[in-house]
Amino acid sequence: MTLALIILAAGKGTRMRSDLPKVLHPIAGAPMLVHAMMAADPLAPARRVVVAGHGAARVRAAALAQDPAAEVVLQTVQNGTAHAVDQARDTLADFDGDAVVLYGDTPFVSAQTLGRIAAARADGADVVVLGFQAADPGRYGRLVVEGDALARIVEAKDATKDELAITLCNSGVVCADRAVLFDLIAQVGNDNASGEYYLTDIVGLANDAGLRCAVVECAEAETLGVNSRVDLAAAEAQFQTRARVAAMENGATLVAPETVHFAHDTRLGRDVMVEPNVVFGPGVVVSDGVTLRAFSHLEGCTVETGAVVGPYARLRPGSQIGAGARIGNFVETKQAEIAAGAKVNHLSYIGDATVGAAANIGAGTITCNYDGVMKHRTEIGENAFIGSNSALVAPVTVGAGASVGAGSVITRNVPDDALAVSRAEQQIKPGLAKRLRARLLALKAQRKA
Ligand code: UD1
Ligand code: CA
Repeated sequence: MTLALIILAAGKGTRMRSDLPKVLHPIAGAPMLVHAMMAADPLAPARRVVVAGHGAARVRAAALAQDPAAEVVLQTVQNGTAHAVDQARDTLADFDGDAVVLYGDTPFVSAQTLGRIAAARADGADVVVLGFQAADPGRYGRLVVEGDALARIVEAKDATKDELAITLCNSGVVCADRAVLFDLIAQVGNDNASGEYYLTDIVGLANDAGLRCAVVECAEAETLGVNSRVDLAAAEAQFQTRARVAAMENGATLVAPETVHFAHDTRLGRDVMVEPNVVFGPGVVVSDGVTLRAFSHLEGCTVETGAVVGPYARLRPGSQIGAGARIGNFVETKQAEIAAGAKVNHLSYIGDATVGAAANIGAGTITCNYDGVMKHRTEIGENAFIGSNSALVAPVTVGAGASVGAGSVITRNVPDDALAVSRAEQQIKPGLAKRLRARLLALKAQRKA
């Protein structure tokens, strides 16, 4: 079945108290909206339509950054969820298939649940609504079930006392054939407690038209909606708990799981060892058998088999750490390809650089990649040896097998197998230290007298 997603993201999110549109607040390093956009990825939706309103320009930019093929439509006034969906009518006019309505502020609906909704449609339900048993039904719409069919949805504001006692609630996720959905929406009025066009009214309308409506149930955690910063923190915590469990189930060891923070797209191989307080930004792929030692921060990087990173390492975007390489404490890398078996063990900055296989980068080595205006590259050949506390002023190349003497400032290319030293030559003055000390002590005694 071909799917089109309609993601509602026009609301203001007043309770966030933020200048950032609510759906752009991040969970695990990605805007909530992006989580909703990706929710159905395993079902390969053919279209993604985002309904934007408040902060539309930024919402549009975020949607397109995630999926350049996403379509963003505008809802200039927020007249309710049916009105919001209706903004996608023209965009989807020629779409032949099912439309699924998702909320941009409800990031955790799983692909598996969406699959069950698709199955219910295939089973012959014309309209499928995702429901859940609410611990505290509060303001949620109530699902009125008669027999094995969904008869209607009643909003809490409009509910009778008996209806309010229903605990089966509306998540907001709805699925129907695109043409059927928009036909039903065209009949929705706004004669209710809020004066809004309720998407939920399509269920009663569908039943009146002789269509069959069904409920698919999911766990309440999946329908968690974010309305405040407190909700946002709860959503983050829920995501992290799941990500930690998934990493361990996939064969990584987390020594102190509650201290490790994942991004939405972190990928860890088998037998990866993650020590306490490791933080993953977006875009990290770690191969099998890697050790990530305590307090390391990784973002936009790959770490190949058997490498050891940290403690206290920072891998910034564009870092590629080769198999068996070592990145030690207080080492920062950025746009840097560190080939297999190379070592950068202590106190270094390696940026805009390639480091050849098995090269050894001494403590305190800095690639001076920035001249104040532009960035330049440093290339270090395989088996090169860079002495401690050296500055490599890019653009510059150190050849394969070459050595750089400790404390050097390298501004010119070093050929393969050459030794480069650039520092003042050492001088020896026999006995001078002793004489100097004697003179200073005499001076001090004179001043006291
Ligand atoms: C809605 C449902 C309710 C359900 C609840 C689940 C309706 C009428 N009610 O209520 O049954 O239990 O969600 O959380 O559908 N939005 C727009 N434009 C609008 C209105 C809303 O884009 O004009 C977006 C909001 O940004 C939000 C989502 O739609 O992402 C839901 O809107 P919200 O106002 O939070 O609906 P609820 O009153 O919570
Ligand atoms: Ca809501």
